[in-house]
Amino acid sequence: MVVLFIGDIVGSPGRAGLARAMPAIRERHAPDLIIANGENSAGGLGITEKTAGELFEIGVDVITTGNHVYRHRDAYEFLDRSDRVIRPANYMTGNPGRGSVIATVGDRRVAVINLSGSVQLKVARSPFTEADTLVERLSRDADAIIVDFHAEVTSEKIAMGWHLDGRVAAVLGTHTHVPTADCRVLPGGTAFISDVGMTGSRAGVIGVRRDQALESFRTQMPVRFDTADEDVWVNGVVVQVRDDGLADSIEQVLVPAE
Ligand SMILES: [Fe+2]
Ligand SMILES: [Fe+2]
Repeated sequence: MVVLFIGDIVGSPGRAGLARAMPAIRERHAPDLIIANGENSAGGLGITEKTAGELFEIGVDVITTGNHVYRHRDAYEFLDRSDRVIRPANYMTGNPGRGSVIATVGDRRVAVINLSGSVQLKVARSPFTEADTLVERLSRDADAIIVDFHAEVTSEKIAMGWHLDGRVAAVLGTHTHVPTADCRVLPGGTAFISDVGMTGSRAGVIGVRRDQALESFRTQMPVRFDTADEDVWVNGVVVQVRDDGLADSIEQVLVPAE
């Protein structure tokens, strides 16, 4: 089974870029399951029912999120209702949405778990113990498990890779919007990357217009941020998942959205 995971999709340039790039990506990799991080899909911050719907139309099966998930209040009810959009599982119990989902791929069931790092991000529970609880529960119903670990620092992400090695098909880092060069299958059979990267404009600063980001850094004054829209690239990974639920390979997808 081929799983395509797309890094944080930033704003309408990211959504449109993914739509343009998807036919070629499909032809090259023939994914059976497409997962995308959509936490920045609405105007660069957050997600709405409309932007999620657009991603589903492009062919995304499951949408993960992260720290910007609750940016748009009018999406809370949608997060509660949707069984294809998830938010970090280690947020407060009772917050809108859910932290995992089981997708069906042919006759196989693939669980997708979303977790948030605890270093420099707000969480209600440790992602490590939360991962243990979820993996134990979901292993009973799923043939394979994919984890989106939305976290700030590489140390915590690498630690999570080792923590889950041999228990899940993949631990894929998101949130920094910068793809790392460390993708590999760990010795226990878990595909890992510290950060998948983002799907958005390379002309800005992690998705924001560079003149505004620079003004913010130069002046340290409040600056309005808009989404950068030139030179859009798709950052993702393709994971080959074996019948035993572990990974054969992981390969980066870093392509211009022409
Ligand atoms: Fe993001
Ligand atoms: Fe994030």
